[in-house]
Amino acid sequence: MHNGFFAKEITRWYARNQRDLPWRHTRDPYLIWLSEVILQQTRVAQGMPYYRRFADAFPTVRSLAAANQEQVLRLWQGLGYYSRARNLHRCAQEVVSRHNGQFPRTYQELLKLPGVGTYTAAAIASFAYNETVPVVDGNVYRVLSRVFGIKNDIQSATGQKKFRQLAEQLVPDGKANIYNQAIMEFGALQCTPGQPACLLCPLSTMCYAYQHGEQHALPVKLKKTKVRTRYLHYLVIRQGADVWMKRRDNSGIWAGLYDFYLIETTHRTPLEQLDDSLLNLLLQQKGIDVAVSATYHHLLTHQRLHVTFYTITLRRPLGNLSDESNRLQAYSVDEIEQLPKPVLIDNFLQNEIF
Ligand code: ADE
Repeated sequence: MHNGFFAKEITRWYARNQRDLPWRHTRDPYLIWLSEVILQQTRVAQGMPYYRRFADAFPTVRSLAAANQEQVLRLWQGLGYYSRARNLHRCAQEVVSRHNGQFPRTYQELLKLPGVGTYTAAAIASFAYNETVPVVDGNVYRVLSRVFGIKNDIQSATGQKKFRQLAEQLVPDGKANIYNQAIMEFGALQCTPGQPACLLCPLSTMCYAYQHGEQHALPVKLKKTKVRTRYLHYLVIRQGADVWMKRRDNSGIWAGLYDFYLIETTHRTPLEQLDDSLLNLLLQQKGIDVAVSATYHHLLTHQRLHVTFYTITLRRPLGNLSDESNRLQAYSVDEIEQLPKPVLIDNFLQNEIF
């Protein structure tokens, strides 16, 4: 197929089928960057309210850079991969401190920003400055593999090189802005993973996958994601109006968020068999009250969590609850409301504490 033909058909399709999305009404690299970072985490429908809240709270890169980290994490709450929220903040600070508040104007310079990879740099460079660079995301892999019959694994080095080379040949000079939006939208709405709308597709007569009935075999992704099962046991320690929480360290699924004292096991384990020094100390107190929650199940990309909360209400203060290793601190219910927390913790609090 002639490259110009592909771009022209995709762009024509886009003119008739595009959604009206807020970040398509701006050329401001800051707002485009913000929308793309959010959309890497989630679908358009779920990402939209996040984008609006962020753009509202931080209309400029300077305002985001000046925010405190907890405020950024709190707004990010529910999007997952919380290290991305800290990268977002760090990147804004770097744009302010090293670039006088102006995003760099080329793909190569954008790539040097923290947390900005090839996808994000290409999105900003093409949408804001119309630089002729292709965006290559999951949608693009799917569309190109099907239309052009590329059977390399999308995660292999060879595959990535092949897709990138093809993508580079296809971007029309001077129209990267609209073409890149178009191919992603085409992947999101027409050439979808489960039920592609081939019967109404303008490319079907020249689409490899359609002609060979291989839509569901493409793209090829050999490595399946492994899912790890974890059992989390939270001690929710209460005394008077206070609840004891802690900030998680800056690694893992909930980096920097707040949760409770945690005991983790590799198998389903009842309270009596949890062996933990703080728990033992608490259970020795006279007249202690322990309420066991239902099990909460939570599915993440790489982890299946089974979570139980043990709410332990103390009659009187216990002096040595907090130490350097557990980093527990007492918070009032009002303070807790403001803390960035994993959605699972927030659900528990809404159901059983607030
Ligand atoms: N997904 C990622 N970037 C997008 C964009 N700019 N528009 C719609 N969906 C997207």
